Amino acid sequence: MANDKRLSSRLAGFYKLPIAKRREHLTSSGILSDNAGAWLDGGGGLEVTIADRMSENVVASTGMPLGLALNFRVNQRDYLVPMAVEEPSVVAAASNAARLVRLSGGFQGEADRAVMTAQVQFDEVDDPKQAATQVDARKAELIDTANAAIPRMVARGGGCADVEARAIADDMLVVHLYVDVGDAMGANIVDTVAEATAPLLHDIVGGRLGLRILSNLPLRRMVRVTGNVSADALGGDALADGIVRASRFASCDPLRAATHNKGVMNGIDAVAVALGQDWRAIEASAHAYAALSGRYGPIATWERTSDGIRGRLEMPLAVGTVGGATKVHPGAQTCFEIVQVETAQELAVVMACVGLASNLAALKALAGEGIQRGHMKLHRRRFAAAASLDAERKEGGRDA
Ligand code: MEV
Repeated sequence: MANDKRLSSRLAGFYKLPIAKRREHLTSSGILSDNAGAWLDGGGGLEVTIADRMSENVVASTGMPLGLALNFRVNQRDYLVPMAVEEPSVVAAASNAARLVRLSGGFQGEADRAVMTAQVQFDEVDDPKQAATQVDARKAELIDTANAAIPRMVARGGGCADVEARAIADDMLVVHLYVDVGDAMGANIVDTVAEATAPLLHDIVGGRLGLRILSNLPLRRMVRVTGNVSADALGGDALADGIVRASRFASCDPLRAATHNKGVMNGIDAVAVALGQDWRAIEASAHAYAALSGRYGPIATWERTSDGIRGRLEMPLAVGTVGGATKVHPGAQTCFEIVQVETAQELAVVMACVGLASNLAALKALAGEGIQRGHMKLHRRRFAAAASLDAERKEGGRDA
């Protein structure tokens, strides 16, 4: 996957090119393998025989528009970010917002190591607090038992590094095993750990053994990104103020926060789908984190700076560059070659930046001319482009 050559994400006029020319930009760049190039040239998609290996009772495979978000600069690196989404405007909006942030130097971000949380539940425990102390005393033995179940992950430098027990009801104890899953999303690995440690834990805790499964709120796997935009780039202080007021609205009202976060997830989910990530897990963690304080709030916020605004997004984000659909889906594999990330942490940072850009684009439109006008402008532009393409085809013109 690694390729030293990097493409600029600043591709002025890319949207005006015919599809074949957009593909050619990628295929002639030297960043793609032959397989990825062939997949793109073939129009993408998923062969039914591969689909049949991925799921059950398969009768066909379905499709989704795949576009590239442009202008992303993150930690001084350019990224062309594939997005698979059916909703119009999402790709253009993220690209436009990324261009504004780029004018102020681009996004900054960092992600924790890929530490997932396994949960083992015990109920009918006589004294959960006392049981928690006993689990604590046997931590080393529990970590050894966990790691014996995942020797390949341990060999790759990952594995279980911590155990924590929490009394969560009068008779209920949950034990967390924190597992560094390297570049994987890690669900299977932590489920294995939960099941492998359960018998020893049962001996220690007593009571009745319950569930053994990951938590989709991986609080030790956080990503944090920021981006600045100058008031000049926004067209003035009024819009900068409007975006900050919109952010405050989301902080004060869960009903608005849900829509605000939906705008963030427009970006993150679209990248997740393109790259074959578990977007249901990502959605679960985003909204659980948004509600962690007991009151649902925004995962991205904006504040004024001396010359503009500064956005910040923080959430747990479990994504992988290996395993899952990345192993079998030629589209996901191609998209990884395009985005050029090397680690799961780097991927999490890029995806969070797309989320922050999507949020910025939405708030900018809402605080400015309103969302519908921009949508309609894009709709008209697309309609005009489609009409001219149709005319060319009728004349026996270029390949679309
Ligand atoms: C639409 O898909 C997303 C928005 O509703 C987000 C928002 O209101 O912030 C525009």
